[in-house]
Amino acid sequence: MPCTVQSADKPFTTLAAKRLREGKLVAFPTETVYGLGGNACDDETVARIYATKGRPDFNPLIVHLAHPKDVGHYATLTPLAQKLADAFWPGPCTLVLDRKPDSPLSLLVSAGLDSVAIRVPAHEHAHSLLDEAGIPIAAPSANRSGRLSPTQAEHVEEEFAQIKEDIWVLDSGPCGLGLESTVIDARGEVPVILRPGAVTAEEIALTTGVVPTIAAHDPESPHSPGQLKSHYAPERPVRLNAKTAREGEVLLTFGKGAPSGIGTLNLSPDGNLIHAAANLFAMLRLVDRAPYTGIAVMPIPEEGLGVAINDRLRRAAADRD
Ligand code: TXA
Ligand code: MG
Repeated sequence: MPCTVQSADKPFTTLAAKRLREGKLVAFPTETVYGLGGNACDDETVARIYATKGRPDFNPLIVHLAHPKDVGHYATLTPLAQKLADAFWPGPCTLVLDRKPDSPLSLLVSAGLDSVAIRVPAHEHAHSLLDEAGIPIAAPSANRSGRLSPTQAEHVEEEFAQIKEDIWVLDSGPCGLGLESTVIDARGEVPVILRPGAVTAEEIALTTGVVPTIAAHDPESPHSPGQLKSHYAPERPVRLNAKTAREGEVLLTFGKGAPSGIGTLNLSPDGNLIHAAANLFAMLRLVDRAPYTGIAVMPIPEEGLGVAINDRLRRAAADRD
């Protein structure tokens, strides 16, 4: 069996923590999406995470910690990073920091960079697992590279059905937020948003007193490979800003008064961007199958969480190489 789904309650969390210490892979829920976790200090384990995902080696991983106070063992907190950590940890925020020169983290988690991305998740079961494991856990989203992030345990099973690796999946139901964390480069004095997410630019500006810059997409030199243009992609082509479906397409709608009925699915009938974010990946997965040949998506407002939703949708719709 490539994947074994277990409850995220005790005693399975305790057993899963032991598996992590033994170098095995455990997929676990966070408040954003499910992650594919392994010991971040062990090169061989980190290499197996890359291999399982089929992930390009220039795409570094996020290291997950149980407690904000532990970060100092692995990376240097700037005054800016400290403010962000105080405000958003535990939570859906990932900080890119300078690695400590003597950091015990595998160099592979940083994929050759001098920096490391660190996150302290708020999800109860993620926290218990990390706390019991007692080691830093590298965990990219638990999907094959370039595909949609999983927001339910069944999605993880689907992703790795063909993989030989012995993976446990801790099932805690659907993830509350459903969109990956905001990745912020916090090494300087101005926060740089490398990947928009659940923590918005407005919240970052309010907390730090500094308006963040948004990193431009540069395909030659991805600072953060979440910036690769085609990413988070379903198998079927995605067409944005659609008003109606064309032949063969399913229509993803948003808000009150949107077209309804067969061949449509509403991301949030109330027009609530938080609900739409939580539903986005699960609904894209749901419609990425026969009889549909394409996915048309109605416009989503570019405000609040809509910025992150539109970012993921543009990548899903981008040309694929
Ligand atoms: O919500 C999340 O962040 C989920 C959960 C499981 O924590 N994880 C996740 O990981 O989305 P992943 O590997 O799919 O995305 C990590 C993002 C990528 O865009 C990667 O390029 C960026 O973080 N990243 C990681 N380390 C970095 C570094 N040292 N410098 C710049 N970007 C980095
Ligand atoms: Mg990912």
